[in-house]
Amino acid sequence: MADLDGNLSAKQFHPGTPSARFTHGIRGADNLDWGMQNRLARILEPATGRTVMLAFDHGYFQGPTSGLERIDLNIAPLSELADALMCTRGSLRTSIPPSTRAGLVLRASGGPSILKELSDEHPAMAMEDAVRINADAVAVQVFVGGEHESRSIRNLTGLVDAGYTAGIPVLGVTAVGKELTRDSRYLGLAVRIIAELGAQLVKTYYCDEGFEDVVAGCPVPVIMAGGKKLPELEALTMASNAVRAGAAGVDMGRNIFQSASPRAMMLAVRAVVHDDLDPQDAYELFRTASEARVPA
Ligand code: R5P
Repeated sequence: MADLDGNLSAKQFHPGTPSARFTHGIRGADNLDWGMQNRLARILEPATGRTVMLAFDHGYFQGPTSGLERIDLNIAPLSELADALMCTRGSLRTSIPPSTRAGLVLRASGGPSILKELSDEHPAMAMEDAVRINADAVAVQVFVGGEHESRSIRNLTGLVDAGYTAGIPVLGVTAVGKELTRDSRYLGLAVRIIAELGAQLVKTYYCDEGFEDVVAGCPVPVIMAGGKKLPELEALTMASNAVRAGAAGVDMGRNIFQSASPRAMMLAVRAVVHDDLDPQDAYELFRTASEARVPA
């Protein structure tokens, strides 16, 4: 017990000063519980509401994707440059050091491999394991318009309910089937449905026309998905266009780990997202960092 002798009797309650109000730049999060807001602030930079997430969850349906053959060697060293990591619990536990400071977004749906119908997903992780791992969010694929649309919506809403119990946000990922067009009409429909059903974050692809409407119509942060590997300047331009249209940042996989210099690409993407660097200048940064042979 503390020593009671010698306590100062002069207290400073500042009666004329209103209680502090804490605000941040994370869209739609002001009315969430403290724990959820705290977790979101580990994924997104609270002042700007932006993030650079590194996605390497591909193995949950693709197996050993090019660039992800050895996550411990190729990806773990990049984690210090990511605001958050998006991965499966399997790759996290085996290949990422628990000392990482990055936010953690864990893949929580799965089922079919690339050999089967991909939309046939189910929940693939219990929320109690996300708590055990200390996840900052869980991610679920949502197949709006797909063959198993209702089930994937159920996967989402089940996780949202469990997430509220645990204080863990849910990232809904718009999964675009081969038969669906990635235009603003479809993406706007999909992100809005995901947000209305309770996801605190949404990830979706970029579209050249109307992406600002997709973002404006979604009341939670919209994070741009990377998609297939593009030449670096094109990928940086797409990321820049997305954040300038209001996206809360990017969640990129192949455009990072399949780059000739993943570490240089991380630096360039960070400059676009967090510093609003022009894509051409970011590309020069990429080239300079690549030539400096910064180890991956
Ligand atoms: C998205 O559907 C999955 O989460 C992917 O496995 C991953 O996020 C894709 O990343 P990228 O398209 O940037 O390689």
